[in-house]
Amino acid sequence: MKIFAYGIREDEEPSLRKWEEANPNIEVGFTKYTLTADSARLAEGSDGVVTLQTSPYTRKALEVLNKLGIKYISIRNVGFDNFNFKDLNDLGFTLTNVPVYSPNAIAEHTVLLMGRLLRRVPEFDEKFDNGDFTWAPTIGKEYREQTVGVVGTGHIGRVVIKILQGFGAKVVAYDVYHNDDIEKQGLYVDSLEELYKQSDIITLHVPLFDSNKYMINDKAISQMKDGVYIINCARGELIDTDALIKGLDSGKVAGAGLDVLDNENSVFGKVWSSIDNIPNEKIKNLAKRTNVIITPHSAFYTETAIHNMITTSFDSNKALIEGLKPNNIVDTTK
Ligand code: NAD
Ligand code: COI
Repeated sequence: MKIFAYGIREDEEPSLRKWEEANPNIEVGFTKYTLTADSARLAEGSDGVVTLQTSPYTRKALEVLNKLGIKYISIRNVGFDNFNFKDLNDLGFTLTNVPVYSPNAIAEHTVLLMGRLLRRVPEFDEKFDNGDFTWAPTIGKEYREQTVGVVGTGHIGRVVIKILQGFGAKVVAYDVYHNDDIEKQGLYVDSLEELYKQSDIITLHVPLFDSNKYMINDKAISQMKDGVYIINCARGELIDTDALIKGLDSGKVAGAGLDVLDNENSVFGKVWSSIDNIPNEKIKNLAKRTNVIITPHSAFYTETAIHNMITTSFDSNKALIEGLKPNNIVDTTK
């Protein structure tokens, strides 16, 4: 049996080696390149592939894998919005993801973004760089005075809620499916509009679908409190960047913490040396603001997460090749 992995980084190699040691009968090949129509040929002779990327998986790449007789794809991450399900189904692929590799990684990052905005850390940093060691006017706010609206109470949203409650924040939540524990705590509101109305901070933890693309648009922002903070550690396309920029310009939005951005692949994963060199005007506009914190889709990036992403994705791919049905097969019929 052979598994071929795409987009393998140096920081993943120790966990990959451990997996190989634990599975001596399985041949593992890998490349640092992501899965494209060109790199797909590298999987020749393999029974399944393991992959991770934020750019789209093209039909052409999948067609090459299909011609090589490969039927099993296991992604090392949670979100599968960069696959076209029709392509997967037409070509007969079975897909697994890693639904829970470390919700804490993303949740902790989310709450850190909130805290850095509340305590105006980027503004203090800017003052510090100018040798200014004074207090005013960068006065902060405390978590316990905030109502935080958590959109999506899945694995990550629920850890965000737990951490926020530790800080004494009031939480309101919205989800199309209600989690028993969150329901028992009485945190759910009936509509997004109600969540927008009540929240000082809004944080997104839902998958991206065609139906919720740009859910944070002009209309949604108009329903929010004046001076709201918006946090997005889910998917960039949930926010219409033009609407966010308008909200920041008018002061309606006091600040934003963004680990993901619409069209982030134009900027993330590369070194630009200076914000001025960023080749995306909207992202550059956001990056220049001291009330906007951008991180390069790195909320997941912890040692624990990386280890679990490698181990679970390879275990799942192996199980598929052996004809088993792991419980993390993605339902591509929906
Ligand atoms: P999850 O599947 O456990 O939870 C998602 C929740 O969203 C579910 O409870 C679901 O019912 C709810 N939901 C779906 N559509 C909704 C809608 N339209 N309105 C309200 N609720 C809706 O997923 P998770 O593990 O919590 O991850 C959430 C998202 O975070 C992922 O889909 C992924 O896009 C993103 N993510 C980002 C990073 C990162 O590094 N920034 C890492 C992992 C995941
Ligand atoms: C996910 O797991 O869905 C992420 O967003 C992490 C990233 C490495 C793709």
